[in-house]
Amino acid sequence: MAINAAVKGDSFERYIEEIRSIWGDGKDPQLPFKVKDLMANLFSSTTSDEPWMAQLIREGKPSRELYRDPDFGFIQMGHVHSKGHGNAPHDHGPCWVVYGAYRGLTEITLYRRTDDGKEPGRATLEKKELHRLGPGVVYPYLAGDIHSTHAVETPAVVFRFLSYDLLKVERHRYDLEKDTVSVV
Ligand SMILES: [Fe+2]
Repeated sequence: MAINAAVKGDSFERYIEEIRSIWGDGKDPQLPFKVKDLMANLFSSTTSDEPWMAQLIREGKPSRELYRDPDFGFIQMGHVHSKGHGNAPHDHGPCWVVYGAYRGLTEITLYRRTDDGKEPGRATLEKKELHRLGPGVVYPYLAGDIHSTHAVETPAVVFRFLSYDLLKVERHRYDLEKDTVSVV
């Protein structure tokens, strides 16, 4: 398996193998929830002194690609966020994503659109839900879910599983102050 040479660990390799074994055609609507469970298992079976995890934490990189699947196209990212890290509301277009916290506390806000979407470039949002991701907490977000993230307790070690390469799809970013939406 083509796992990044710096990320060799039994628990991580097992996690990737488990995802590959259930992937099928990638269209099972339960997949995001199955990956959520597998990621939670990964966290509970990985101690912070396991070399690959210790290295990830020690290096403290804001963003790192840990694995990219050559057959199915999914990607596992690892992030270490410092105080104040956050982003504007966005969606992942046609892709789904699983966010999980290994350390720290990250808040993820979910939004609903309150406009009818008929005026190009314009969007109004209201907050729908707040997820607090402390250690071991994992949530899936489905295609079109609008969300933003905010690191509350840091360093926040966050895993982000992408169903596909986001650079290859059309997705959206929202501006809460200007009530606008733009293609990323
Ligand atoms: Fe996101």
